Amino acid sequence: MRSRAKITVFVSLLIILSLALSQGNNALATKAEEEAALKTARVMTTELLKRTKGMLVKLLHEGDMLKAITVCAIAVPEIMAEFNSKPHHTIKRTSVKYRNPANMPDYYERKILEEMQSLADKGRLTPEFESIDVVTENDDITYLRYMKPLRVEKPCLNCHGPSENIAPEVMKFLAKFYPDDRARDFKEGDLRGAVSVKIALKFPENQP
Ligand code: HEC
Repeated sequence: MRSRAKITVFVSLLIILSLALSQGNNALATKAEEEAALKTARVMTTELLKRTKGMLVKLLHEGDMLKAITVCAIAVPEIMAEFNSKPHHTIKRTSVKYRNPANMPDYYERKILEEMQSLADKGRLTPEFESIDVVTENDDITYLRYMKPLRVEKPCLNCHGPSENIAPEVMKFLAKFYPDDRARDFKEGDLRGAVSVKIALKFPENQP
């Protein structure tokens, strides 16, 4: 009886030890996955901004406001959909003062946007700033969460500036498609929102 108890203790210790070791291995694998996911998040963000800014500046320069609106309203969502077709990857643009309710921040994004705003208020939100976290969410999946702030630049004021400076055709478009628009009355340099990337790193044991 006593030796059986000893064996039980020994086996239990072995199980605990192997569990601890496998946890360690997972943690190592996750570190490498984290680095790879961060690289992907940065590439997705830079690519999105590069592709849309070029289009926007060109159309604004030509003075075609309604075509320029389609960049923000159609081209950006299309590029994001292309990225989002990759399994377990999502990219979105979000803001506390959103124009489209579909871009409303989730709980995590709101918290980071508030942190960015408070840094901006103190003049400490640098162009290099990026927010990087590894978070296990309610679905038990661990995600890399990456956010990069978007500041208001001069061309943005055409559609996000003070209402009285926005062209009548733009105001008409906004009233029609975005009746609850909160994304006006910004000034140059204000924090407009952020690009937010979410990449799944690790699933619970029973999921693929
Ligand atoms: C020609 C008009 C126009 C210009 C210029 C413009 N935007 Fe927008 N912006 C829009 C529209 C329309 C939407 C709503 C898009 C949608 O339905 O998702 C939008 C949405 C956004 C969003 C998503 C969050 C939200 O409010 O729904 C961000 C962030 C944003 N714009 C940032 C910018 C920045 C930064 C610039 C300048 C580099 C800029 N925009 C220039 C028209 C414009």
